[in-house]
Amino acid sequence: MSLALHEHASACAKVILLGEHSVVHGQPALAAGLPEALQLRATRLDDPGAPLRCSIPAWDLDFTLAEVSTHPVARACGDVISHCDGPITGWRIDGTTAIVARAGLGSSAAITVALARLVLGPAAPIESVVEASIVGERVFHGTPSGIDSEVAARGGVLRFVRGQPPEALTLARPLPLVIVPSGVERNTADQVAKVHRALERWPAIARPVVETLGRIANAGQEELARGDFARFGELADMAHALLGALGVSSPVLDRLCAQARAHGAFGAKLTGAGGGGCIVAVPSGPAEDLAAVFRAEGLQPLCVEVRAA
Ligand code: PMV
Repeated sequence: MSLALHEHASACAKVILLGEHSVVHGQPALAAGLPEALQLRATRLDDPGAPLRCSIPAWDLDFTLAEVSTHPVARACGDVISHCDGPITGWRIDGTTAIVARAGLGSSAAITVALARLVLGPAAPIESVVEASIVGERVFHGTPSGIDSEVAARGGVLRFVRGQPPEALTLARPLPLVIVPSGVERNTADQVAKVHRALERWPAIARPVVETLGRIANAGQEELARGDFARFGELADMAHALLGALGVSSPVLDRLCAQARAHGAFGAKLTGAGGGGCIVAVPSGPAEDLAAVFRAEGLQPLCVEVRAA
């Protein structure tokens, strides 16, 4: 067991471009990292026997590893630290971030990746960091596909197929996006269960929908490589409609997507598990102009440009 932590570590947040949910069922997905989204800093406590304390005020998190039985984030962090043979006493960890939590932007994977790096250090192989992160992700998701952990650790734009090493993609040029948090919280496991249910009840219908979402991800990869963001946006619209057919959209998400399109976006879709969380829109003009539409409603859109690592 290592009794020390490294002083700093960071991790990416993530935005799923195409392929959420269908990725759980073996289809490809495309996801991008939002660099340095979570920064953790470790300091020694005066009392080496005091339980490790973790505080991320932006996410309303402040817990000790003595609270693992009651606090899911504490349990996930405890599992990651134990997996990495790190210290469970004598340290405090403080986190800063500009990313909203529990909104499909990979906040849980960002914590578990950054925490694994605090224990394992900057030279740790990415595979070990991802493996440790997935141990923590299981507390939140049950059976995570692993996409969040891969993107949080690697950044860039990845093509991901469950059970296979991710492929780093190149883009003809950076893809501008406007990410709009709906302000509605959702639970990934509940959303994933909806798709399982659709597949059980209507296999002959839901299976082709899931497979089409995979084909959309493949087509999206080609459009990113070509730099044709108008066609990429059309694919985003199709993906959103099919995710709705599987039951994982919501009236709020549908409305936000329609609003983005009405203000000239090439396309818009839910991102992540759906049911709440965020939408992602592909602006046809300045991203800030599209963001202003949502800001005027009191929402807090985020303009990003995703690019290869
Ligand atoms: O937790 P979220 O909102 O980032 O969603 C994760 C993506 C899913 O495809 C819905 C689940 C998974 O494990 O891949």
